[in-house]
Amino acid sequence: MTDPTEAGGSADGRLPVVVVGAGAMGGEWIRMLARSPYAMAVGVVDLDVELAAATVASAGLDGVVIGSSVAEVAERADAAAVINVTVPQAHRVVNEQALRAGLPVLCEKPLAPTVAEALRQVALADITGELLMVSQSRRYFNHLAAFRRAVAALGPLSTVNAQFFHADHEPGFREQMAHPLLVDMSIHHFDQLRSLTRDEPIAVRCSSWNPPWSWFAGDAAASAEFELASGARFVYAGSRCTPGSQTSWNADWRVWGEQGSASWDGDDVVRVEADGVGIDLPDGREGIEGSLEEFVTALRAGATPQNEVRANVLSLAMVEGAIRSSERGGERVVLADLLEASLADAIADERSDDVAALLASWTSAAEGIATPAWGSAPATIASGGAR
Ligand SMILES: NC(=O)c1ccc[n+]([C@@H]2O[C@H](COP(=O)([O-])OP(=O)(O)OC[C@H]3O[C@@H](n4cnc5c(N)ncnc54)[C@H](O)[C@@H]3O)[C@@H](O)[C@H]2O)c1
Repeated sequence: MTDPTEAGGSADGRLPVVVVGAGAMGGEWIRMLARSPYAMAVGVVDLDVELAAATVASAGLDGVVIGSSVAEVAERADAAAVINVTVPQAHRVVNEQALRAGLPVLCEKPLAPTVAEALRQVALADITGELLMVSQSRRYFNHLAAFRRAVAALGPLSTVNAQFFHADHEPGFREQMAHPLLVDMSIHHFDQLRSLTRDEPIAVRCSSWNPPWSWFAGDAAASAEFELASGARFVYAGSRCTPGSQTSWNADWRVWGEQGSASWDGDDVVRVEADGVGIDLPDGREGIEGSLEEFVTALRAGATPQNEVRANVLSLAMVEGAIRSSERGGERVVLADLLEASLADAIADERSDDVAALLASWTSAAEGIATPAWGSAPATIASGGAR
């Protein structure tokens, strides 16, 4: 297991990391790392080595080790961690290479295309003893934190509503996916719902479709209703191929509770209609900078970040539950049942004996994701924007 006190080898105290995946988002990470006080890119890996070199050069960096093998680049660069910014279907394989090489991982969302693949990674993180954290970067917005504080003051909730309407053209893996909205985008909003309400999803009914003019191969639009453990409902509607009346990338939110209501436009407008409830805006790092700060802080403190791999499984279950419901004509899908079916799939799919044996030893998937694999206490981050 990585010794948290040793995780951070550069002279200025920044964590030396390898970025795997040098595409559009990998470039964002590499440019952010170039100015980060928390970590620095010492290696960059991509199947396309020329792309990796070009992305490093465009960030104005020298001396970065470039290659196509995670373990080899990490060793040559003397890296202490990996940031996985590959396409979703490569996340598990790359995370496995890194964790087996003794390197903790901060992995871009979605952790995996299915809950079964996510459960295999929970077991893998357990076996290696390394931190695997999912970068759900849309949890880290100061206005979301202010909105969360306002929502907490509304008392028991009745209804949470979120809408996401965009027309985004990002050629590549998204345009080929069966469910580009739910798998690649709604994962953010479903995860934000859990962060916002501290409530957990129980069941979902969903319908997804592809508007006739869509430039996506799969379903670019969906509407879904989730039942939450408190009894409240989360009502979601979204599309990635709807020009006009664009919402924020963070979606547009409204919440109604016993004491009143609150709304967030997903950017910088939070409103509250409830007696005695104000708006308290923190000043933390946002987006991937906030996510990186929490990863490095948790690693050094041996603490559990909010998006430690196990905590992320229910966000993915919301996505897969919505897809299964849509495929069954809007049938109600119970997420606890989905988790247990996914555990059986995970055991059947797994090729590593140690991971398969650990999965098979769980009495249930619910038990398997109950206790964080890493850290003894919740991580606290200096800037406080995330919580
Ligand atoms: N947090 C956010 O707001 C946000 C925004 C955009 C993208 N993302 C996520 O970032 C990830 C990457 O998205 P993108 O737009 O950069 O995709 P992209 O297709 O532009 O880049 C992905 C890169 O990964 C490389 N790659 C694929 N498999 C690999 C492997 N096995 N080993 C090494 N390299 C491999 C590809 O060659 C490619 O260069 C996705 O998971 C996406 O959902 C997050």
